[in-house]
Amino acid sequence: MVPELEKATVRIRQPERVRGIIRTLREQGGAKLQVISDFDMTLSRFGCNGRRCPTSHNILDTSRVVSEDGRKKLKDLLHYYYPIEIDPNRTLEEKCPLMVEWWTRAHELLVQQKIRKDDIAQIVRESEVMLRDGFKEFFDQLHKNSVPLFIFSAGVGDVLEEIIRQASVFYSNVNVVSNYMDFDDDGVLTHFKAPLIHTYNKNNSVLQGTDYFQQLSTRTNIILLGDSMGDLTMADGIPSVENILKIGFLNDKVEERRGKYLEAYDIVLESDETLDVVNGILRYIL
Ligand code: TMP
Ligand code: MG
Repeated sequence: MVPELEKATVRIRQPERVRGIIRTLREQGGAKLQVISDFDMTLSRFGCNGRRCPTSHNILDTSRVVSEDGRKKLKDLLHYYYPIEIDPNRTLEEKCPLMVEWWTRAHELLVQQKIRKDDIAQIVRESEVMLRDGFKEFFDQLHKNSVPLFIFSAGVGDVLEEIIRQASVFYSNVNVVSNYMDFDDDGVLTHFKAPLIHTYNKNNSVLQGTDYFQQLSTRTNIILLGDSMGDLTMADGIPSVENILKIGFLNDKVEERRGKYLEAYDIVLESDETLDVVNGILRYIL
């Protein structure tokens, strides 16, 4: 069916159930399908040759437009809050206010740097960001088959759009909801637009005022891609889900988090920097 599912990185708790969903997605075809994906560490790579790749926030944090002092403060925030973000032993109720704190403090620091809109393309070009291997086939398959791709990101929208633009895959079937910057008349960053999207509020609460999912109401089959437990609610705003296949990238603290990921995601990809499995499933379905 999908040879890529035999890869050593693949873990599935209920293989029969997963095969059933994939078969149904194929029978019902591309016209009923939509894909919802996280961006940072899901479409972009977590690491390369033992080195971490940057998130859309990190791209700004480590760029030349941020002062040394700003860079240090942003790094300190990351070192304090990231372990909390991925801690399997803390509840969502504990994590949420701390994530709001992280994003708010990080955005305040970025605003202090007077970042210019015109600098973003160059900052992205100079960064070490990488999309996962196979990204071109992924975006191309969806575009060719007119399957909508919704990128739901707690990262920085202006940066992530620039990444996919530079990779020549920002096609017309791609829609992004994320944290967007606002600039003054001189093109200098003044603030981030509301609502603030962090790892654990990626759900309908931040989609008020968009009718994206309502417009796609006939697309009741979903493939959801994420790397965080917070990504699991990204499809909650869809009026009627018939079949959903949740694919989770388990990038970090693999042993500690395996159990929870296997419970929550239908397919778990452990330390897999490619989109091979997703592409294999799409090739079979479309
Ligand atoms: P997402 O992948 O769920 O959309 O979340 C964005 C990631 O960005 C999340 O894993 C935390 C990370 N992040 C940073 O790297 N630096 C920051 O300053 C902030 C606020 C978030
Ligand atoms: Mg992510």
